[in-house]
Amino acid sequence: MFWFQLWREYKLSIAELLAVFPKWKTVYFDKEILILDSIDKEKIIKKSNTLWWTIKIIEITNKSIVNFAENHDWKFNYWLSIFWKKKSLKTELMSIKKDLKSIWINSRFINKDFKPLSSAQIIAEKLVKKWTDFSYIYTDTNQYIWTTIWIQDINAYSKRDYSKDRDMQTGMLPPKLCQIMLNIAWWNSIYDPFVGLGTVLIEWALQWRLNLYWSDLNEKMVELSKSNLLSFVKENNIKLENYDFFKLNSKFINEADIINNWKVESIVTEWYLWEIMTKKNISIVRIEKQRESLKQLYKLFFENLSKTWYNWNLVICFPFWDLRWKYQYFNDIYHIIENYCEVIKLFPNIDDITTNKWSLLYKRDNQLVWREIFKLKIKNNK
Ligand SMILES: C[S@@+](CC[C@H](N)C(=O)[O-])C[C@H]1O[C@@H](n2cnc3c(N)ncnc32)[C@H](O)[C@@H]1O
Repeated sequence: MFWFQLWREYKLSIAELLAVFPKWKTVYFDKEILILDSIDKEKIIKKSNTLWWTIKIIEITNKSIVNFAENHDWKFNYWLSIFWKKKSLKTELMSIKKDLKSIWINSRFINKDFKPLSSAQIIAEKLVKKWTDFSYIYTDTNQYIWTTIWIQDINAYSKRDYSKDRDMQTGMLPPKLCQIMLNIAWWNSIYDPFVGLGTVLIEWALQWRLNLYWSDLNEKMVELSKSNLLSFVKENNIKLENYDFFKLNSKFINEADIINNWKVESIVTEWYLWEIMTKKNISIVRIEKQRESLKQLYKLFFENLSKTWYNWNLVICFPFWDLRWKYQYFNDIYHIIENYCEVIKLFPNIDDITTNKWSLLYKRDNQLVWREIFKLKIKNNK
């Protein structure tokens, strides 16, 4: 059994994990953890670096901490976290130290003040490599011991999400969210018809590298995203397999040759979110106006796409608004989706997770225009 420690927005974390490990059995979940069973450990380790919304992966063990210590020939450095029971960590650690001393094992628990360790400390102390970051998990009847087998490299992670050259500019898709969308879409070729600065391209190149296509209404964005992508792959020594780009008004998506030639297997895109609103100028009238103009674009896109042979996935973000703590969803888009698409469930085996319309919501505290993410399959009318 493996335990995945989730980020604060736990539904996004779970959706990503179920997309990356689709065949495995969900044993338990709550807002902090997901437990999966029947997973091959090698596969987890192999895929762990494509996970963006998991903090730690830990594995259940039937060994005690003393058993682990017996196989160490250096000073036994370790850490322990306690879950699900308000047991005193200090008392627990003292008693382990005593047990280890009685068999002549010299040990040191990191953080003498008993405060939880950060991911950066765990990495710096090499606890995961040595299998000595432990967790005790108490249920009503049992106590289980787990060891950490992978931890998110928080430094590399922050660098990728906020690196200077890809700073959060107006309208840019957050890279961390983009990775979830790509994990959910998961296929051999990706097309972004609203490419903007090219976040989808860069994140795709980083993980998958296969066939990549993009377009935009604005020729400048087509070129800018190309130069962003090419300088990124050069800097990171990445070899792209195949790519192509063109100018296109996505209202007429049915005119894209790559769609008609069966080259695209997944469309991953963030649509035009329109205007960024502030607390001072946000109002229902303004929201209505934006919904009205976006609706026309969205309707034509789906209507025309359904006239083609394209029958693969679309993973797409739509805007919704926070008007004084009340969510204003884009209801018109739900009708359009109903007409032209099937919504794919992101939590196929978990009935207890409820979401708005089988979608995922992505919010940032300091913004008022938020994102609703759908996985869709087009109903072809051809
Ligand atoms: C919000 S930006 C996308 C940002 C992108 N996801 C990124 O992270 O860089 C929206 C893009 O949609 C393009 N756009 C707007 N209307 C369009 C249309 N009808 N067809 C194609 N592209 C369009 C704009 O030129 C802009 O580049």
